[in-house]
Amino acid sequence: MAHAAPVAVVTGATGFVASELVKQLLAKGYTVRGTVRSLQNKDKVQHLERLGQAMPGHLTLHEADLLKEGSFDSVVRGASYIFHTASPFFIESSNAQADLIDPALKGTANVLSSAAKAKDSVKRVILTSSVAAVHGEYAAPPKNGHLYTEEDWNETSTIDNQPYHRSKVLAEQEAWKTAKQHGLDLVTILPNFVLGPVLSSRADGTSVGFLKGVAEGTALQGTPLICDVRDVARAHVLAAEEPSASGRYIVSHRAPLTATALSKALQERFPQYAIPEVPEQQYDASEKIDNSKAEKELGLQLTPAVNTFIDGIVTLVQLEIAQPLPSGAPQEGTAAV
Ligand SMILES: NC(=O)c1ccc[n+]([C@@H]2O[C@H](COP(=O)([O-])OP(=O)(O)OC[C@H]3O[C@@H](n4cnc5c(N)ncnc54)[C@H](OP(=O)(O)O)[C@@H]3O)[C@@H](O)[C@H]2O)c1
Repeated sequence: MAHAAPVAVVTGATGFVASELVKQLLAKGYTVRGTVRSLQNKDKVQHLERLGQAMPGHLTLHEADLLKEGSFDSVVRGASYIFHTASPFFIESSNAQADLIDPALKGTANVLSSAAKAKDSVKRVILTSSVAAVHGEYAAPPKNGHLYTEEDWNETSTIDNQPYHRSKVLAEQEAWKTAKQHGLDLVTILPNFVLGPVLSSRADGTSVGFLKGVAEGTALQGTPLICDVRDVARAHVLAAEEPSASGRYIVSHRAPLTATALSKALQERFPQYAIPEVPEQQYDASEKIDNSKAEKELGLQLTPAVNTFIDGIVTLVQLEIAQPLPSGAPQEGTAAV
């Protein structure tokens, strides 16, 4: 007798991370219910509709509102796995409470309470948290004095200073509290800055905007610690499928790629584009975070960071999100990627 495909709910299916997760779940034969803010917004949903057309009957899209109690009740009913990824991801806001904290915190409370009502079918809830819930601005040293781990919680960010970070702390703490209260099996995934291939042609996301800046050689500050969107999605799937998975899982390279190394790699791969030179030894490339728990317990292997940038830029150009300058064109300033 054929087994029915497991049903997975992905909240915020339109997002950068969630779209890749939907794609991977479909490829593994799951039946996916994706939640979106509005089905009418074709710019946001058309890439998902295309994924669904390739796997007829395996993807349905449902409207649900993070701020509305009970909004997720019907979509999670009968599901085996709930991947809660929907949360605002931007750094600047003039009204952090309404724009960042409320959707993150109330959204998590609502999704988890719908999960509790569907406890008979729900095997596990997987929450997309963030390294932002582990530390803020490296302001407090790691507990082990060496590298940040899953043991660390960001206790320094506030609504006025790093409100996005604060939203992720509050949301993850809410999830752990509600899961404990209702006996739900919860695992959280804590990605660092996520980059890599995009599926949607929208350009309003923070990750996509950053990668577009790298592709177009505009000046950027710092060398962020990154991870690959394909690895982040895979970590979510592994966290659902591995029976012994538990607790929090950081997904991140341990040290940043230097801007010098990145610009060299991009110049080699894209000789047709004007990729600015970045002088040697300008950046701190020391190890900062421990990703070994996901490696050991989930078997997660990270994509080399250079490939993440290259594969991401290829999709940004294909989807006409980025327009890199041709090589030989005059460049403004030096890019510090
Ligand atoms: N990208 C990163 O570097 C990174 C790193 C660590 C953790 N994360 C986490 O990963 C998750 C997905 O992030 P992403 O990079 O994929 O961001 P994204 O592309 O901006 O996607 C965010 C998703 O959340 C939905 N959303 C945002 N605000 C909402 C609101 N007020 N009401 C309802 N839905 C809302 C968005 O819906 P619309 O499509 O309708 O806007 C979208 O589906 C978030 O939880 C984020 O905190 C991301």
